Amino acid sequence: MVDILHFLGAAMLFVVCAQLGLLALASVRRYVHTARIQSLEVADFEERIARTHVIRKSEEAHGAPWSGWRKFEVTQTVDECGGVKSFYLRAHDQKPIPGFLPGQFLTFQLDIPGQQKKIVRCYSLSDCPRDDHYRVTIKRLPEGLVSGFFHDHVKEGSILDIKAPSGGFFLDTNKETPVVLIGGGVGITPLLSMLNSVVESKSPRKVWLFFGVRNSDEHIMKAHLDQIAREYSQVELRVCYSQPLAADVLGRDYHHGERISLKAIKAELGTSNYDFFICGSAPMMKTVIDGLRDWGVPETKIRREAFGPASVKKPAPTKGVSVVFARSDKKILWSGEEQSLLDLAEAQKIATIDASGCHAGSCGTCKTAIKSGKVTYNQDPGADIEEGSCLTCICVPETDLVLDA
Ligand SMILES: Cc1cc2nc3c(=O)[nH]c(=O)nc-3n(C[C@H](O)[C@H](O)[C@H](O)COP(=O)(O)OP(=O)(O)OC[C@H]3O[C@@H](n4cnc5c(N)ncnc54)[C@H](O)[C@@H]3O)c2cc1C
Ligand code: FES
Repeated sequence: MVDILHFLGAAMLFVVCAQLGLLALASVRRYVHTARIQSLEVADFEERIARTHVIRKSEEAHGAPWSGWRKFEVTQTVDECGGVKSFYLRAHDQKPIPGFLPGQFLTFQLDIPGQQKKIVRCYSLSDCPRDDHYRVTIKRLPEGLVSGFFHDHVKEGSILDIKAPSGGFFLDTNKETPVVLIGGGVGITPLLSMLNSVVESKSPRKVWLFFGVRNSDEHIMKAHLDQIAREYSQVELRVCYSQPLAADVLGRDYHHGERISLKAIKAELGTSNYDFFICGSAPMMKTVIDGLRDWGVPETKIRREAFGPASVKKPAPTKGVSVVFARSDKKILWSGEEQSLLDLAEAQKIATIDASGCHAGSCGTCKTAIKSGKVTYNQDPGADIEEGSCLTCICVPETDLVLDA
């Protein structure tokens, strides 16, 4: 009898200890998870502060940006390859133009016949800073309103309204740490600016460029890239063709007969100790970024630029909160189906939010004041955003929300 009581006592003690152990383990896990998120947030915050500092220093050194719209004249257009054209732009007032950080973009406002309002789009600067002109390189998209307008109607002598260079995706040219640039298709444009800046400044910085396209028909600035790889020993160029043409030669035109893959990147680099800059299609960016994370590359060393709404990550499906458009006198229950507050505003025909912009968090056109509540961003804002406002094209409500719209 005594043995049985001993046994039962020991068993109960074991169960209690096991439960306490599990509880303690769960608390430790929660603590580690929270600490990890907090340290990521701190790292992200510090990174943003550092980036702002670099932008301010660059403005001091290379001239402050103009505010609002400034007129530029197209001085030259160049066909780069199938469906991709470069546009050279000189300030119409002939006054000096400020420099920029390689990777930044220009914002254009266009008056397109048949459109009720002016349309805004962003295009990356595709060359390093020059004294007297900027260059952008634009791919024509099927049915694309602005890219089609550029290709069909913007010619030498055209005058365009442009906002000063901006954006948080840039190469800090004061550093000499090795970098890996990974570009898909026209996503090479900001990376070209980075590459050109490194070699023209005679920096010894090591640069790897992985460039993925379908085949030689889409190989933007092939001759220029080949020349840089030949002339500068610090530059390693690796071109990936996913669908090489019969005339494309492995080893001459391209190095990997596949899409850009992390397997190829890892095999070429050997170590992950680089700063990575990525710009391309949404699937390419997702594959590469997930792979880099798995490889142990810290989040702060992975910089990315999304070119448009198709590249924007789907937000976490917040549901059941309400969104009030105060000036339009509308209250809507957020179903979690729209990708952004701007999508919701467009669906509800809210005219007080301007939907003619980039839809990618870059141009600031959709900026709206928040009267109460909180939003969550589904990608890093590229445009400046002050406390109390939000870029509706890349955020969703986190709590009940009242917008001044
Ligand atoms: C920071 C930044 C930098 C950029 N840099 C570059 C650059 O250097 N070069 C470059 O070429 N682009 C760049 N872009 C992309 C560029 O801004 C435009 O998004 C791009 O040119 C498409 O604009 P669009 O007006 O031609 O196409 P849109 O008319 O906006 O259409 C985009 C695509 O969506 C499709 N579409 C439109 N409406 C619908 C609909 N209702 N249903 C289904 N499909 C639809 C169109 O067919 C088209 O393929 C950049 C974007 C950002 C944010
Ligand atoms: S539309 Fe450009 S930032 Fe939202």
